[in-house]
Amino acid sequence: MTPIAFVGAGKMATAMIEGWLKNGSGDPRSLIVCSRQGKSAEALADRLGVSKVSDAATAVRMSAAVVLACKPQQIAELAASLRPVLHGQPVLSILAGTRLARLRTLLPEAGPIIRSMPNRPGQIGQGVTPYAPESTLPPEVLAWVEGVLSPLGAHFSIEERHLDAVTGISGSGPAYVFEFIAALRDGGIAEGLDSATSLRLALQTVSGAAALLEMSGDAPEIQRDAVVSPNGTTAAALARLTEGGFRPLVEDAVRAATRRSRELSSD
Ligand SMILES: NC(=O)c1ccc[n+]([C@@H]2O[C@H](COP(=O)([O-])OP(=O)(O)OC[C@H]3O[C@@H](n4cnc5c(N)ncnc54)[C@H](OP(=O)(O)O)[C@@H]3O)[C@@H](O)[C@H]2O)c1
Repeated sequence: MTPIAFVGAGKMATAMIEGWLKNGSGDPRSLIVCSRQGKSAEALADRLGVSKVSDAATAVRMSAAVVLACKPQQIAELAASLRPVLHGQPVLSILAGTRLARLRTLLPEAGPIIRSMPNRPGQIGQGVTPYAPESTLPPEVLAWVEGVLSPLGAHFSIEERHLDAVTGISGSGPAYVFEFIAALRDGGIAEGLDSATSLRLALQTVSGAAALLEMSGDAPEIQRDAVVSPNGTTAAALARLTEGGFRPLVEDAVRAATRRSRELSSD
C-alpha cells in the first residue's frame, strides 16, 4: 500500500522511517514526508532519500495510506486540511493520548484508523509497537499495518484502553532507561572513573542485563537475587535503592506518563 504519506517529520517519524529503511525493503522515494515549517521534512529527505512535499494535504493526496506523526496538540488544526483529500485511505496514528473515536470525528473520510504506540528503539529494529485498530481490519489493511510495524521490532494488537499504560511503559520508557544509564555513569564518575569508561560500563550493564533476562525467561527478581550475596556489595546498593524509594518512584513515573496520556485524550 504505497506511497505512504508521513504527516510530521520529527523525532519519532525519523526513528520509524530509519527502522523501515534499515530493516525493511521499502523504496525511500515511496515515503512522502511533510512538516509544518518544512525544515524537519527537508532534513529527513536529505538524510534518508525520502520524498518531501510542502504540506500535509499534498502528501495525503499523493498517497495510498497515511501515518499521522505530528504532536497530539496539532491534529485538530491539521485535520481540516486533510479532510478534503482523504477518501478511504488507512490511517495509522502514533499520537500519544489521541483516541480512535476522536480521530474518527476529526477524519470521517479516512479508511480504517489504527492507533499505535511505537518507541525510539524501533529506529534499530528493537522497538515494540502495540496497536489498536478501530474495528476488525480487512486483510489487506492488516497486512499493510504488519508490514509497516515489523521493521521496527515487536508489534501486537491490544485493546485501545491499554494504550495509555503502554505509553507509560514502552512509549516513554526509553527516556527512563537513558536517565538510569546517565545516573549509573555519574555514579562511576563520582567514584573516580572517567566519563567514557563509566558510560561504557553502564551501557553494557543495562543491555547485557536485559538480554540475559530475556534469554532466561525468569522474573527480574530471580535474576536480581542471583547477583546478591548476603552483606555483599549488591546488597548494599539495593538497600540504598529501597531506602530512596527507587521502585515506587519508577512505578509512579509510569503512572504519571499514563495519566498524562489520559489527560491528552481529553484536551
Ligand atoms: N518521541 C517519541 O519517542 C515518541 C514515542 C511514541 C510516540 N510518539 C508520538 O509521536 C508524535 C510525534 O512526536 P515527536 O517526538 O516526533 O514530535 P516532533 O519531533 O515535535 O515532530 C512533530 C512533527 O509534526 C510536524 N507537524 C506539526 N504540524 C504539522 C502540520 N500542520 N503539517 C505537517 N506537519 C506538521 C512538525 O513539523 P515542524 O517541525 O515544522 O513543526 C514535526 O515534523 C507525537 O504525537 C508523540 O505522541 C513519540
